[in-house]
Amino acid sequence: MATEVTKEFTQGLPKAELHLHIEGTLEPELKLKLAKRNGIDIGQETIEEVKETYNYNDLASFLAVYYPAMNVLQKEEDFYDLAMDYLRRAAKNNVRHVEIFFDPQAHTSRGIAFETVINGLYRATVDARALNIDARLIMCFLRDLSRESARKTLEESLQYKDKFIGVGLDSDEHNNPPMKFFNQFTEATKHGLHVTAHADIDQKNSIEHIRELLEVIGVERVDHGTNIVEDPDLVEFAAKKEIGFTSCPLSNSFVTPFMKGKEVLELLSKGVKVSIHSDDPAYFGGYVSDNYYAIADKYNLTKEQVVKLARNSFETSWISTEQKSIYIEELEKYAKEN
Ligand code: ADE
Ligand code: ZN
Repeated sequence: MATEVTKEFTQGLPKAELHLHIEGTLEPELKLKLAKRNGIDIGQETIEEVKETYNYNDLASFLAVYYPAMNVLQKEEDFYDLAMDYLRRAAKNNVRHVEIFFDPQAHTSRGIAFETVINGLYRATVDARALNIDARLIMCFLRDLSRESARKTLEESLQYKDKFIGVGLDSDEHNNPPMKFFNQFTEATKHGLHVTAHADIDQKNSIEHIRELLEVIGVERVDHGTNIVEDPDLVEFAAKKEIGFTSCPLSNSFVTPFMKGKEVLELLSKGVKVSIHSDDPAYFGGYVSDNYYAIADKYNLTKEQVVKLARNSFETSWISTEQKSIYIEELEKYAKEN
């Protein structure tokens, strides 16, 4: 039996996007345009040639394509254009609120100033108001770099503290447990920043990493993290504490053989606040509505389940209770009328 959910329904669904790497929205068109503008030879000249380089089947092979591409991002205007391109797409997906990840170390390590990155991105989040989107930034630490690099990055970022709302943790998880960054998470919390972190799919020690995040570091959300289903006690804990789990079906099906829809449905049924997002949409074949539709289609989701996933996205976002109620009311009205 086919799902009752249509592509149009997922597109118009009011939603919050909470797991979106801005560097992962760099579409081949913009990559080529920026390469030309900045006089950078990326080794490809057409969209087809760029797409031919998109060969990956796990996290490490994806990251090996992802980081070198960022070299086309040089000036404040480039970061602004990158974010505005994404935000225009988000508006078409009826994203009402977005919390955007950015990786300063991927840029400062190539000689681009922190200020260049954050000012370009921040200006786009301000201009997003004209698109009726409330956009915020989350600064991620690259977990495969040193603690000292993360410490320096956090220290430098604090002078721009009014321009981002939280910290995250991403990049290669292999042998890089969350506890490596315990001090940075503690320090960030002291400064009033929110805290989330990736627990990528099917990693060595996935469950231990999720346990560290929930029981020791005290994150508010886990990015991916569906391996938690392997530990019923942790699932119960996550449900009780209303921890958000940001799942990305299309990205999952690139870096593992599965979309992890079964795990998402299990978490949903156990009262965990799991939600659907797009991760690196320019690399994984779809924006957030495509991700909703992909999981709905493959796992035969009901409209009610899809609406619940969207509701969870608002409930676990870092906005005021009043603002959450406004968005949820909008969502309920949409669900009733469509
Ligand atoms: N950086 C960009 N996308 C990522 C992902 N899915 N996991 C870890 N690091 C990332
Ligand atoms: Zn991610």
